[in-house]
Amino acid sequence: MNRWTDVNGIYQIYPRSFMDTDGNGSGDISGIVDKLDYIKGGEGSLGIDAIWLSPFYTSPMVDNGYDISDYCGVDPLFGTLDDFKRLLDEAHRRQIRVMIDFVPNHTSDRHPWFEASASSRDNNHRDWYIWRDGKTDGSAPNNWLSVAGGSAWQYDEKSNQYYLHSFLKEQPDLNWDNLEVRAAMKAVVDFWLSMGVDGLRADAIRWMAKDRSFVDKLSNPNYRDGQEDPYHSQIHHHHGSADQLRTYLGGIAATVEDYDDRIMIFEDYPDFSVVTPQERYRPYLELYDINPRVAMPFNFGGMFMPFQATSFRDFIETVHSYLQDSRIPVYCLGNHDQSRLVSRFGQEQARLIAMLQLTLPGLPVMYYGDELGMSDGHITEEFIQDSFEKNNPGVGIGRDPERTPMQWSHDVSAGFSKGAPWLPVPIELRGVTVADQQADRTSFLALYQNILSLRSKSSTLRRGVYETCGTNNEHVFSYRLSDKEHVFTIVLNFSDQTTQCQVGEPNPDIIAATSQPVSLIDENTVSLRPYQGIVIARRISTNS
Ligand code: NOJ
Repeated sequence: MNRWTDVNGIYQIYPRSFMDTDGNGSGDISGIVDKLDYIKGGEGSLGIDAIWLSPFYTSPMVDNGYDISDYCGVDPLFGTLDDFKRLLDEAHRRQIRVMIDFVPNHTSDRHPWFEASASSRDNNHRDWYIWRDGKTDGSAPNNWLSVAGGSAWQYDEKSNQYYLHSFLKEQPDLNWDNLEVRAAMKAVVDFWLSMGVDGLRADAIRWMAKDRSFVDKLSNPNYRDGQEDPYHSQIHHHHGSADQLRTYLGGIAATVEDYDDRIMIFEDYPDFSVVTPQERYRPYLELYDINPRVAMPFNFGGMFMPFQATSFRDFIETVHSYLQDSRIPVYCLGNHDQSRLVSRFGQEQARLIAMLQLTLPGLPVMYYGDELGMSDGHITEEFIQDSFEKNNPGVGIGRDPERTPMQWSHDVSAGFSKGAPWLPVPIELRGVTVADQQADRTSFLALYQNILSLRSKSSTLRRGVYETCGTNNEHVFSYRLSDKEHVFTIVLNFSDQTTQCQVGEPNPDIIAATSQPVSLIDENTVSLRPYQGIVIARRISTNS
């Protein structure tokens, strides 16, 4: 039985940036254990019942752990396997589920599998990765680009062949057509799930399936040179076919399904120049013969949405039009690869977005620090850590700003570490700390706590039936979630002006607001301040 639909949300922890207990400036697993009460505990806690940890596995850390050299080991930077087991126990004792990252597309170039594969053309691991001859002039086999910048092919002098890396050259792509690779990765999944891990977040799944013809990619006619990531200068339709992906993902999902009450959420972004969010996600939800309660995609459609009521309304409405009962939408609006919510949308706007995300049915995924309204850090040259930025300075693909340390208090390094933090904390914390916000009923944190608490108590908010409400105002997006017992009406003002709108609920009982006060004009009409959102509750009378 899958009880993940009872979970009120998932909190993403970037282990290196959450809490450092050994003073080396990088967060660790013991730090996460120490902060579990903040995640779910008593007074002042966030009140969320699942966490997802970005990679903590053995790694040369060229891509901060997404370059894995041992899938079943813990990197000493983060602690030991026993520390992880303690985290699992302590989390479960608090009824917090633990989801971990699973990186199927590539390993580190220092993984023993790759070292064997690169050792000679006839090594029995050769075919575990994707090796090709260069063109007759010796250049790369085709024009494919790496997401991390430059060609996706790296020349290996020893064997006079190229290997494919969809990300950094230190992250060679595995060959998922090789059955031994699939079996080895199944063993990894079994290792963690049999230990008691509750779920997997599967990384970069789109790249697992390659276009087997290996033909050149076409140029993207909509590409704005110098204004966007050079990766988008090509059309990436060719990345694999649905059938291949279905086979690979279906295999992993089947393993996940062998265990009771586990899920897998996979990462796939809409590529706006080629496909819309619905074109990207719909096939996963409709066509794949994967149990949709076990494996589902993140929906990142809202991440890059213009901040307009109509855009969000159309997006959410479309998602719900193709969701059937068993489908679980996983709305994710921020993570370790994207500029922070506040930096993308603005302070007040981010509070509205938080209310939207936490009052939609499904599984909302939140990124650590967004609940405080942390903004992107200012990273001066000497602090740059991300290889994407180091290898391609200034093109805007660096991700350090959204990975700065969690801001706990006004202690040294914002209470994150007694040593020098691996990425800087802002000099002025301006109330953006857990300590400040726990003491302030109007804070960002208080807003998250309030709505998460409503969400925990009410299955209507987690899985009620969604319906868009008409308002008489194009700047207001309103919707209703209902079941047999309750109706919640959410009204969100996306404009920077005070605006009046009818809420369709006489004498509304307003149980949450992004800001105060909320003014009632008459029994049906509210006046909403700029970017103000409210939640109205009604109990359905059972007497009639
Ligand atoms: C997506 C991850 O979220 C990102 O951080 C990483 O660099 C790439 N996949 C490669 O694993």
